[in-house]
Amino acid sequence: MLILVTGGSGFVGSHLVGGLLAQGHRVRCLLRRTSDLSFIASLPLEHVWGALDDAESLERACRGVDAVYHLAGVTKAPDAATYFRVNEQGTRSLLEACWRVNPEVRRFVYFSSLAAAGPADGSTPIDETCPPHPVSHYGRSKLAGEEAVRAYAGRLPAVILRPAPVYGPRERDILTYFRLVQRGLKLLPGGGAHQVCMIHVSDLVQLALRVLEDERVVGQTYFACDGEAHDLEAVLDAVGAALGKRTLRVVIPVPLLEVFAALGGIWARLSKRSVLLNDQKLQEMKQRYWLCDVSKARRELGFVPQIDLQTGMALTARWYREQGWLSG
Ligand SMILES: NC(=O)c1ccc[n+]([C@@H]2O[C@H](COP(=O)([O-])OP(=O)(O)OC[C@H]3O[C@@H](n4cnc5c(N)ncnc54)[C@H](OP(=O)(O)O)[C@@H]3O)[C@@H](O)[C@H]2O)c1
Repeated sequence: MLILVTGGSGFVGSHLVGGLLAQGHRVRCLLRRTSDLSFIASLPLEHVWGALDDAESLERACRGVDAVYHLAGVTKAPDAATYFRVNEQGTRSLLEACWRVNPEVRRFVYFSSLAAAGPADGSTPIDETCPPHPVSHYGRSKLAGEEAVRAYAGRLPAVILRPAPVYGPRERDILTYFRLVQRGLKLLPGGGAHQVCMIHVSDLVQLALRVLEDERVVGQTYFACDGEAHDLEAVLDAVGAALGKRTLRVVIPVPLLEVFAALGGIWARLSKRSVLLNDQKLQEMKQRYWLCDVSKARRELGFVPQIDLQTGMALTARWYREQGWLSG
């Protein structure tokens, strides 16, 4: 099959591109002139130069493909408008282009996020039947992207994936925590009594490949995670074990996080750049239970996560070191 991947230059997208090629598919990527191609430069891809706000390029990208994986999006942005312009309007524009030039497409896969669904109220993970209640601009914009996809029900054979935070080689946010642990610091925002679901990027790719052929996925939404609830501290301990580092436990109180977030917000507005911590990211960090239930993907798609947290962190640490992203 010929498959269009948007966001193919990014962390998850570049792994997905590799997975599709390994399965014998041909891959076309929508890329911007400014895209960093380092993860995909050596791969045999078709390139379409364009962007989500360039309708003509979206038509060129969609023409003749058998399936679309839509991953292009922003996970960090300086303001709400940017999140919605890319994650909602960009998704809408891609759907419109696909419907215009390729209504026969066999699958349209939208990469949403657990953030679109919002956190769980307690330690019971949410499932796909729970009403969404995102807590950040990012989550609301990804939910708006989902709604755009659902508006095409009956026209395009779409499926929505909602991954929990994804980690693995090439990921840059969790790298920050690796670097702190490497320096012997285990920073626990707000005390660290939080529980999170996560997924290693290879498992997410395996799940994403499964929705390509199976007709029953059309119109469905699936959470994606490794099936475990991880204490935040256990995640950092797994990083410590992967790096062979003992760490000093440092709790960052919420008021201090609020100060950092406010400073981050000011810096983002002045510089027009995204920051790791602002009021939005803080809002997400304050939620105690980012937990989702992967039973539906297990049951309906036969998805069995292969990489547990310890193994995944060890693989990630090895890659960071090999690439010189981490010393030692
Ligand atoms: N990483 C996670 O933990 C996670 C969890 C849940 C869901 N997701 C979703 O998975 C998708 C991929 O995430 P990621 O972590 O791989 O993100 P990433 O590394 O930041 O990659 C984002 C990709 O989107 C492209 N892009 C951004 N704006 C664009 C635009 N206006 N036009 C065309 N392309 C554009 C980027 O292209 P350039 O190279 O040109 O910037 C890049 O290829 C996103 O939709 C995200 O919401 C990610």
